[in-house]
Amino acid sequence: MTSHYAVFGNPVAHSRSPLIHAEFARQTGQDLDYRAILAPLDGFAAAIARFREAGGAGANVTVPFKEEAFRLATRLTPRAEQAGAVNTLKFDNDGVLGDNTDGAGLVRDLTLNLKQPLAGKSLLLMGAGGAARGVIGPLLAEQPGRLVLANRTVEKALQLAELFGGRISGAPYAALAGQRFDIVINATAASLKGELPPLPEDLLHPGALAYDMMYGSETPFMAWARQHGAERVEDGLGMLVEQAAESFFLWRGIRPDTAPVIASLKSAE
Ligand code: ATR
Repeated sequence: MTSHYAVFGNPVAHSRSPLIHAEFARQTGQDLDYRAILAPLDGFAAAIARFREAGGAGANVTVPFKEEAFRLATRLTPRAEQAGAVNTLKFDNDGVLGDNTDGAGLVRDLTLNLKQPLAGKSLLLMGAGGAARGVIGPLLAEQPGRLVLANRTVEKALQLAELFGGRISGAPYAALAGQRFDIVINATAASLKGELPPLPEDLLHPGALAYDMMYGSETPFMAWARQHGAERVEDGLGMLVEQAAESFFLWRGIRPDTAPVIASLKSAE
């Protein structure tokens, strides 16, 4: 019997998740379908309820519903609890399990696909919204030498630093002058608007990796990093496929092979 899954978002038409999950299903021989569902901005919970009543087995959740999905879940995994946001729902007789696979997806892309160890490295994470919040715990678990969180509205960065018990430091962009990092990750919404956070010229160590969680086109941050000494510049396509694989594993108990899926999406970029 075919199992039904979907990604809920607004907008959602350009989501690559249906393609990725169709490929995972083909590869692992799982009988499932996966589609994109546009939920009205004030109708997320109702859309999820309808999907579940119609036999849906699980869902991915994207912008702007991740916090609402967190509240809707009746049980949470520890990493979803820590992130305060949910991108994966699993429906069962006991209710709705909420998980967050974004951070694991980023860490797997960095460490396994890009072969970039994080232990002992100096990391800068830009942004303090849901996207940044979801990846802090998994990044810290890799034992970086330090993790600085920069945000335009510095209060939000300081609040997050406090939430993580001082294991990260919050800063405004102006305070980055004179500091250098091995890995800089853009988790802001600036790229969506074609904007660049205000970064000092000498931010990157020689050999640095610049990573933008956005994908689909070269962002202003990626272009800036190329001009300012980054050895490697990557977009978030690998993270997208890895977070999907983590969701697939939660639902189906099988881990798909992500490498061929990433390669085929990258060649289409
Ligand atoms: P998401 O869930 O995608 O993280 P969000 O919660 O709206 O979305 O957060 C967007 C993040 O991008 C915030 O950290 C925001 O900074 P502020 O907290 O100061 O608003 C950041 N951001 C958006 N546009 C930016 C820009 N042009 N430069 C720097 N940061 C930007």
